[in-house]
Amino acid sequence: MFPEHRPRRLRGTAALRRLVSETTLRPRQLILPLFVAEGADQPRPIASMPGVVQHTRDSLRKAAVDAVRAGVGGLMLFGVPEERDATGSGAVAEDGVLNVALRDLRAELGDDTVLMADTCLDEFTDHGHCGVLDASGAVDNDATLEVYAEMAVAQAEAGAHLLGPSGMMDGQVGVIRRALDEAGYTGTGILAYSAKYASAFYGPFREAVDSQLKGDRKSYQQDPGNAREALREIELDLAEGADAIMVKPALAYLDVLRAAAELSPVPVAAYNISGEYAMVEAAAANGWLDRERTILEVLTSIRRAGADMILTYWATEAAAWLD
Ligand code: PBG
Repeated sequence: MFPEHRPRRLRGTAALRRLVSETTLRPRQLILPLFVAEGADQPRPIASMPGVVQHTRDSLRKAAVDAVRAGVGGLMLFGVPEERDATGSGAVAEDGVLNVALRDLRAELGDDTVLMADTCLDEFTDHGHCGVLDASGAVDNDATLEVYAEMAVAQAEAGAHLLGPSGMMDGQVGVIRRALDEAGYTGTGILAYSAKYASAFYGPFREAVDSQLKGDRKSYQQDPGNAREALREIELDLAEGADAIMVKPALAYLDVLRAAAELSPVPVAAYNISGEYAMVEAAAANGWLDRERTILEVLTSIRRAGADMILTYWATEAAAWLD
C-alpha cells in the first residue's frame, strides 16, 4: 500500500485539527501599543496605519479599558509631545504627555492590566534620535544613559509596571535597573528591546509619533543581516537584569525570534510593528487578502516562532475574535 504514511488523517475534521493544533494564540498574549498626543482635543487618525489613532487623554482611557475588557494582556504607551527639544526633556518631566497618560491609566486600571511605557527619547527630541547628541551630532551613548535613568524613574513613579527601553544604547538595561532600585522601584520590571533592527518597516510609526528624524538609526539599531549579534545583545540585556526580552520587528526576523526563544530563560516578546500592520491593512483594503485570516496567521506565526507575547496594533480586535 502506498502512501504508507498519511499525515492528512489528522487534518480530516475540524475536531481532529483542533486536537493536534500545536500553537495557541490567546488574548492574554497580546499587548496593545497606544499613542497619546499632548493637547489633542480629538483622536487623530494616522494615515499609514488605518484604524490606529493618536489618542486624546480621554480616548486613550477608553481604548485602554476596551482592550483590557477584551482580555488583552498589556498596554504599551507612546507619547507624542507638543514641543520637543535637544535632550527630550518632555520624557522626564512629571507633566510630560507620556507620564501624564501613565498616571491616567494606572488610576483607571490599577493592577488589572500590565502597563508599559516606551523608555526612549525619539518621540521627545527635536532631532528625532533615540538619544542625545554630542558636539559632532553623533548619538552620545553614555550621556543618553543618564537621561534614560531619569526617564525610567519618572515612568515608574507615574505607574508603569514594565519599562520598555527601545533605544538600543549600550548599557541601557543596567543603568535603568540601577536607577529604579536606587529610587525604591525594585518591583518595576524591564522588557528589554534587546534585538532591535534598523528596519524600513518602522515607516508608519514615524508618522504615528510625528517623528522629526532625518537620516537613520544605523549607528545604534542592528543591521538586518546580523543574527549572531542579536544573541549577544540578548545575553548582555539578561546579564544587566532584563525581566523579559524582545525581538523587533517580528515578521522579517522570525529566525532571530526562534533563536532568542531557545536561549532565553525569561519571557520573549516580539513586536509586530507598524509596517507589518500597514502592509496587511493596505492589501486587505484592496481586497487582495482576507483581513481576519491574514491577521490571525501573522500572529500565529509569531507565536510559533517562539514569542510568549506579541505587541500588535490588532490586539483588541484579535482578542475579540479569539474569545
Ligand atoms: C523607538 C521606537 C520605534 C518603534 C517602537 N519604539 C521606532 C524606531 O525605532 O524607529 C517602532 C514601532 C513600530 O514601528 O510599530 N522609540
